[in-house]
Amino acid sequence: MGRKLPRPEKTRIFTVSNQKGGVGKTTTTVNIAAALAAAGLNVLVIDIDPQGNASTALGIEHHADVDSIYDVLINDVALADVVAQCPDIDKLICAPATIHLAGAEIELVSLVAREQRLRRAIDVYAKTREKNGEERLDYIFIDCPPSLGLLTVNAFCAANEVLIPIQCEYYALEGLSQLLKNIEMIQKHLNADLVVSTILLTMYDGRTNLAAQVAAEVRTHFPDQVLSAVVPRSVRISEAPSYQQTVMTYDPSSSGALSYLEAAAEIAER
Ligand SMILES: Nc1ncnc2c1ncn2[C@@H]1O[C@H](COP(=O)(O)OP(=O)(O)OP(=O)(O)O)[C@@H](O)[C@H]1O
Ligand SMILES: [Mg+2]
Repeated sequence: MGRKLPRPEKTRIFTVSNQKGGVGKTTTTVNIAAALAAAGLNVLVIDIDPQGNASTALGIEHHADVDSIYDVLINDVALADVVAQCPDIDKLICAPATIHLAGAEIELVSLVAREQRLRRAIDVYAKTREKNGEERLDYIFIDCPPSLGLLTVNAFCAANEVLIPIQCEYYALEGLSQLLKNIEMIQKHLNADLVVSTILLTMYDGRTNLAAQVAAEVRTHFPDQVLSAVVPRSVRISEAPSYQQTVMTYDPSSSGALSYLEAAAEIAER
C-alpha cells in the first residue's frame, strides 16, 4: 500500500464480467478499485448488480430508499447525484445498486437507447466533474451481475475494457466461449472500441493440481490478457465484506490483499 501508480492518459473504464456466478467479480472489482485509489488514483465503482454486493463491500448505503444506479438508468437521475464516498478510502467513490435494479432488466426494454444509458450517464458525469473543477476520474469499474442481460450490455457499451475473473476450477472455461461470443456481438454492433484486456485468475488453491491445470490452460489460450498476479483462496478475502470493507483495509498485509495490489499495479502499468 502507498505505492504510487501512473495515471492513465484518459479515464479507463472496465467492465468486470463473467456470466458464471460466484467467480470473484465483485471481490475483484472492489479490491482492485481500492488498491488503485490507495495509490492516489481517482476511482469510481459502479454497482449494477441488484444484489448490491459491491456497495456492501465498500460500506455504501444501498437500502431501497437510496437513490441508486437504478434511478440513473431508468429515471434519468444524474450519476453525480447518486455517487457516494467510500468511508475507508479517500479517492474511492461508488454508485450503489439497490434491489430496484432487479426490475430494471425488464424496464429497460421499452426505453430509448436502452443499451447506451450507462455510457451516456458516465459521459455527462465526466463533464459535470470538469465543470465543478473536480479531478478527472482515472478508473471506473463496473461490477456486473452474473448474467448477459441488458444491465451487462449497458456495462459493455459504457466500457473500453473487459476484465474477466476466472475461478481456477473445473467448469471455469465452460461459459467463457459464450461470454466471448457476446462480447464479439457487442463489438460488432454497439461498441467497436471494447477489448478484453485483462483476465485475472481467482480463488487459486495452490494445493490442488486442478487449479494449476486450469491456470495453465487459461494462460495458453490468453497469453496476453492473463495477469501474472494470481489471487489465492483466502479466508481474509471472504471475511472482509462482513465488516463492510475491502481486504485492502481489513487486512492489508494478508496474501489476498497483496495479490490484489499486485494485480492493480500490473493493470496500471500496462
Ligand atoms: N480469493 C478468494 N478467497 C476466498 N473466498 C473468496 C475469494 N474471492 C471471492 N471469495 C468469496 O466467494 C464468494 C463469491 O465471490 P464474489 O461475490 O466476488 O463473486 P461474484 O462473481 O461477484 O458473484 P456473483 O456472480 O453472485 O455476483 C464470496 O463469498 C466471496 O467472499
Ligand atoms: Mg458479484
